[in-house]
Amino acid sequence: MNQTLIILDFGSQYTQLIARRVREQKVFCKILPYHAALAVIAAEKPKGIILSGSPANVYGPKAPIPDLRLFDLGVPIFGICYGLQLMAHVLNGKVHKSSKREYGFSELVVDKPSGLFKGLPKNFTCWMSHGDKLDRLPQGFVSVAHTSNSPIAAVANFQRKIFGVQFHPEVVHTPLGSKIIANFLFEVCGFYGDWTSKAFIRESIRKIRREVGHSKVVLGLSGGVDSSVAAVLIHKAIGKQLTCIFVDNGLLRLHEMDQIRSIFQRHFKMNIRIVDARKNFLTELRGVVDPEKKRKIIGRVFIEVFDREAKKIGKVNFLGQGTLYPDVIESVSVHGGPASMIKSHHNVGGLPKKIRFKLLEPLRELFKDEVRAAGRALGLKSEVVDRHPFPGPGLAVRIIGDVTESRLGLLRAADWIVIDEIKKAKLYHQIWQAFAVFLPIKSVGVMGDERTYENAVAVRAVTSQDGMTADWARIPPEVLSRISSRIINEVRGINRVCYDISSKPPATIEWE
Ligand code: XMP
Repeated sequence: MNQTLIILDFGSQYTQLIARRVREQKVFCKILPYHAALAVIAAEKPKGIILSGSPANVYGPKAPIPDLRLFDLGVPIFGICYGLQLMAHVLNGKVHKSSKREYGFSELVVDKPSGLFKGLPKNFTCWMSHGDKLDRLPQGFVSVAHTSNSPIAAVANFQRKIFGVQFHPEVVHTPLGSKIIANFLFEVCGFYGDWTSKAFIRESIRKIRREVGHSKVVLGLSGGVDSSVAAVLIHKAIGKQLTCIFVDNGLLRLHEMDQIRSIFQRHFKMNIRIVDARKNFLTELRGVVDPEKKRKIIGRVFIEVFDREAKKIGKVNFLGQGTLYPDVIESVSVHGGPASMIKSHHNVGGLPKKIRFKLLEPLRELFKDEVRAAGRALGLKSEVVDRHPFPGPGLAVRIIGDVTESRLGLLRAADWIVIDEIKKAKLYHQIWQAFAVFLPIKSVGVMGDERTYENAVAVRAVTSQDGMTADWARIPPEVLSRISSRIINEVRGINRVCYDISSKPPATIEWE
């Protein structure tokens, strides 16, 4: 138990992928920035270290260089791409800018089928993405594989257990990449591979109990995957010492509140305070059409309502949150420059500047799919763990223009039909998100013999891996047709349905 691998991040776009591949082997790993102090790395007692790739060159003036005493820790090291070049550069090898860039698929020929390549075929396909290459081996190393363009494509120092590859084993384009990573983890480092959802839950329960003692914890439950799993996990550890606050902001989808009651209150028997704050939100939102203003108002009112309710519980020391690993990884930017703000995301539990609670974040070392697996292991059903994301500001950012009760009613009914038909067509789990958007325009239609002049909705459905980029979902026309005719027939006040065929970028997933 508690065996950790450290990934030192040199700014590669693939660093998180390396972590995914390691964890798929049931080995726990943490990503640290390349400049992490040696003491910080050593404090983790790593059983292995992986050096990531990087967009930088090792011989450039701004090359990211870690504390080189790293190589003397006696811990096995695996350098990937830049990681390999760095090793060569600092351990007395030679790297030079190649005249020919190697980008894309390459055929790797294994010269020494041991270490990383144990049990692998003599030739296999790998994915290269580099301009620099090695032309002198670092001291004490041997070349263990080559390609037609890279005479030294992989190196090893078997005695010191230091390895490096020029290609990227973490990407799917290197089909045997996982086996190479597994060889490093199990053959070289000696990991057990016992980091499972059950082990995570057991360990977390112990940690939560130790940290919280007899204190009380409050948690903002939204019904989304992260806050739900965090709530059930904390509840399993400390039972009624946890109080969840669910704020009904009036911007929820149809039947959402009933689901919360039935899952968390009746099934898990958790302490839940449901606050009816519909009026607070809707009054403050009246007449507001600017998307950013809507978001700010909703964020502020949420904190006010939550704070007021939390004070009623008595002395509370901890605030539970469903923060995930991608939110806390300190990302390394080798070329500098913060990403520009596109939308201010308000999440349930968004914190005021000064908080009087200590944070309890039991999921802060997990990726989303690991949270889902933990949720399943805790007994949460697919309707919770596999549900589509829903934005904190709820339906307010899916009503273009003024948010009113009557528009909310129309949108809820239309949205329900979209999801119902997508589920019936068995498309729900292939789609990242599907929903309806209320459009504040009126158009002419005809129903029976009567002329209508009513509102329109847009249907949005996207496929995505992480919400950062997305494509519109190719829903079969017959499913779209059912959605359209049901909305127009069943939702009085809507006489037109459009399908949004924009990808992200340049559009975003939500309309506001
Ligand atoms: P966009 O619209 O920026 O959305 O392409 C990307 C993903 O984020 C969700 N989203 C939010 N989630 N609070 C949230 O918790 C928010 O304010 C928020 N705004 C957008 C959106 O649903 C999509 O999954």
